[in-house]
Amino acid sequence: MNKEQVTNLEVGRIMRMDWKKGLLLPNAEVRETVKTLGQLEGIFLNEDTGRTMDQNTVVYRVQAWRPVPEGTEGAQFWGTMVIEPGQVNSEYFMTHGHFHRKRNRTEFYSLIKGEGALILMDETRKTWMEAMSAGSLHFIPPNVAHRVANTGQEPLRLVACWPSDAGHDYDAIRQFGFGARLLRVNGKPSLIRSEN
Ligand SMILES: [Fe+2]
Repeated sequence: MNKEQVTNLEVGRIMRMDWKKGLLLPNAEVRETVKTLGQLEGIFLNEDTGRTMDQNTVVYRVQAWRPVPEGTEGAQFWGTMVIEPGQVNSEYFMTHGHFHRKRNRTEFYSLIKGEGALILMDETRKTWMEAMSAGSLHFIPPNVAHRVANTGQEPLRLVACWPSDAGHDYDAIRQFGFGARLLRVNGKPSLIRSEN
């Protein structure tokens, strides 16, 4: 091993994935965040049901590895997500969802374990979904908001890779939501159009 490779190791440019769990092994460069029901206020349709549930219930956890500073052009970030199974009334536990701040930036999601749906919405609010199952690999096109719902009985585990200058725009979703919601209807996930 030459000197340059040793330097690379020292600054933490080599990470390890536990592919069974779909998680990055803890490391000082891996940032972990948790989203609880209380932190997702306004995201689910039935807020009344949501408020009667324990607000500390974990809905999802995220790990992000940013090997270069946020906003750097031409590099990528890597992340993992674990979404717990559960529902708020008939709506599946899901992520907040976002557009990229640079709208034309794209992303890959790949499901390690579980069952779910990738919910996508373009800037005209047209909303559609792709079924997610172990091994499915999804390309999120430019100018499209994205969120993931867990439609199964076990934690949904996925990995993600996105450009380091993409950024996140959560506000548009917080204000207007997606054009449809993924609800459990007669035991099956159904995308139901909505005004919000
Ligand atoms: Fe994204």
